[in-house]
Amino acid sequence: MDGVPCLRVAQGQAQQFRERLQVEGFLDVTLCLVKDSDGTVLLPIAPSRLSQLDLHSLQTVVPSDGPCELVWSQAPLQSKKERGKMKGNKLQLILQELLESQGERWTEELKADLPRSFHRHQDLVLLGDKCFSQPLWKKIDQQLWRTVAKGLGAKRLAKMSRISSDGFRSPVVTMLLGDHSWVRHVDNGIKYEFDVTKCMFSAGNITEKLRVAGFDCREETVVDLYAGIGYFTLPYLVHARATHVHACEWNPNAVEALRRNLEANRVSDRCTVHEGDNRQLQLCDIADRVNLGLIPSSKDGWPVACRLLRRTTGGILHIHQNVTSPLLNTAAVPAINDGAQMVSGKKADREAWQAWADDTAKRIISLLGDVTGSQWNTNIQHIEHVKSYAPHVHHIVLDLECRPS
Ligand SMILES: C[S@@+](CC[C@H](N)C(=O)[O-])C[C@H]1O[C@@H](n2cnc3c(N)ncnc32)[C@H](O)[C@@H]1O
Repeated sequence: MDGVPCLRVAQGQAQQFRERLQVEGFLDVTLCLVKDSDGTVLLPIAPSRLSQLDLHSLQTVVPSDGPCELVWSQAPLQSKKERGKMKGNKLQLILQELLESQGERWTEELKADLPRSFHRHQDLVLLGDKCFSQPLWKKIDQQLWRTVAKGLGAKRLAKMSRISSDGFRSPVVTMLLGDHSWVRHVDNGIKYEFDVTKCMFSAGNITEKLRVAGFDCREETVVDLYAGIGYFTLPYLVHARATHVHACEWNPNAVEALRRNLEANRVSDRCTVHEGDNRQLQLCDIADRVNLGLIPSSKDGWPVACRLLRRTTGGILHIHQNVTSPLLNTAAVPAINDGAQMVSGKKADREAWQAWADDTAKRIISLLGDVTGSQWNTNIQHIEHVKSYAPHVHHIVLDLECRPS
C-alpha cells in the first residue's frame, strides 16, 4: 500500500494515543502529526513496527469512543526537521525585514543569535537562554518581541535564563510579551496549570507518569513527598484511583499550581497538601505507598518515608535516583568489537542499577528497624529506567516492597 501508515484518532484523544504509541515505540517521531479537516488527527506509525501494532490492546489502554483506525496518508507528511527549518526561515525573514526597515544591516552574528529550539505551551513560546543576546536587538525591543511572536505563531513570549540554585529548581523565566504567564498542559487526560515564570514542567518524566497512571491504588493511601505541581500526585488520584494522597511541597509557587490542578481535575477532596519541608512532616504509620520523586537523589526523604509506611502491613516505596554507571574504555577496543561494547555497556548500566538497588534495600531495612524498633523485609519489585542524561547517567526508579517480618 502507498503512503505513510497513520493511526486516525479523535483530536481530543490524540495526545493520549500519541504518548502511548511513543512509549511503545510505534510512533514515527521523525514525522509531524496531521490535523484533518474532519476533526481527526493522523499519527504517523513507524513502518518497521506496523505489523506489531495491535489496535485492540491499544484501545484497552486508551479507552476511546472515537475512531481508532489504520489509514495510509497520501498527503506528504512533513518531517520535523523541515518544519523547524521553515519556521526558522520565516523568523529570519521577518526579522531581517524589520531591521533593514530601520536602516540596520543583517549580519551572520544576528542569524546565529536566533533561537534554534524553544518550548511551546499553548499560545506561549518559551525561548532558551542562548538567543537574542546581541546588543542590537535592544534597540528595537517591543517591536522585536511582537515580530518574534508573529514569526513563531505565538501570542505570548517568555525567555529562560538559567536554573537558579535556590533549592526550588525554579527557572529564571521573564515574560517578554503577553499579559500573564500561566499556561495549561493536558497530559494523559490530566490538566496541569502552572506559571512558567515560577515553576517548571518536567516533560521528561512522561513514561513514569504513564506507569503510575497504570497502578491500581484503590483502597490505598499514598504520600507524594516531592509533589511539585502534581506531576505524580495527579496520576495517582485521577488514574490509579488512590483513596487519598498526601502531597508534600515546600515551594509556595508550586503549591499554588498544585492546588489549582487538584481543583481543575476535581480531585481536591481526596488530597491533603502539606506545605513545607517534608522532613518536618508530622504524619506516621499511614502510607501504603510513598513516592520519592526527587533527582539526583531522594535520600534525604528516606527516613520520613520509612516513618510513613504502615507498621502492620508495610507498603511500597518508589525511590527515584540518578545512577552513574562506570564508563567503559571503548578507545582501547578495536572497531570490530563495537556491537559487543554496546551490549556490555547496557549490561554495565543494568549492573550499576542493580547494585544501587541492593544497597538501597539494605539501607531501608536498617532505617525501618531504627524507626519502628522491629524487623522488616524488602523485595526489589522492579527497576524502571526513566531517562538518560548522558550515556552513563540514568534516572531510574526503584519499586521497593517493604513488609514487617
Ligand atoms: C523537580 S520536582 C519533582 C516533581 C516530580 N516528582 C517530577 O519528578 O516531575 C521536585 C519538587 O520537590 C520539591 N522539594 C524538594 N525538596 C523538598 C522538601 N524537602 N520538602 C518538600 N518539597 C521539596 C521541590 O520544590 C520541587 O517542586
